[in-house]
Amino acid sequence: MGRATPPPRPARPERPLLRPPKEMPKRRAFGSMAGRIALLHALAHIELNAIDLGWDLVARFSGEELPRAFFDDWVGVAAEEARHFELLTDRLADFGVAYGDLPAHDGLWEAAAATADDLLARLAVVPLVLEARGLDVTPEMAARLERIGDVQTAAILQRIYRDEIGHVAIGLRWFEHLCRTRGLDPEAVFHERVRRCFKGDLKRPFNHEARTAAGFPAHYYEPLAEHEPC
Ligand SMILES: [Fe+2]
Ligand SMILES: [Fe+2]
Repeated sequence: MGRATPPPRPARPERPLLRPPKEMPKRRAFGSMAGRIALLHALAHIELNAIDLGWDLVARFSGEELPRAFFDDWVGVAAEEARHFELLTDRLADFGVAYGDLPAHDGLWEAAAATADDLLARLAVVPLVLEARGLDVTPEMAARLERIGDVQTAAILQRIYRDEIGHVAIGLRWFEHLCRTRGLDPEAVFHERVRRCFKGDLKRPFNHEARTAAGFPAHYYEPLAEHEPC
């Protein structure tokens, strides 16, 4: 491993145009072709950011005393994110659409910027909040696609879902490893970093089954969740 200082933002293609999240057009009904295209495009955009986030972890924290296995794991994650991007953009091509044809929002890199100088914060927010959130919402999206007869797109989402369980597991493993080597209590550090670096509460409902499969126990994330309505 060498050392590198990556740029604050990764290079981006000229399109899609990046807009503030508030200015994004509302997602259309799922059943319509336009709705499905908007969904695929939004997911492809997330995966492109995920590729960059994987490589950013490798490059930005190359100066820390970390075992080789840490970097190998994140290179592996970035490769899977690239595969996800490809699966989604191939499916978009079936509908005659390319990545970049629709606008996309620029909220995703904010999490990276907010945690650029703190590896524990980066691991807490990116794999353990954002990717774990993906586990909560993906099964329902896949089920809805199956119900409208788009089994091909549903299968892509299921493949992504299985891989993402692994990404959360890798995130947790290294988060706990770092806490242990620094003599810190992982749960307390997780709560503190998420409260400081992530805007808002974690959203219910949680997919406990998938989170458990990733080895991610509820006592990490339940205390950070929005209150249940009475
Ligand atoms: Fe992914
Ligand atoms: Fe991922």
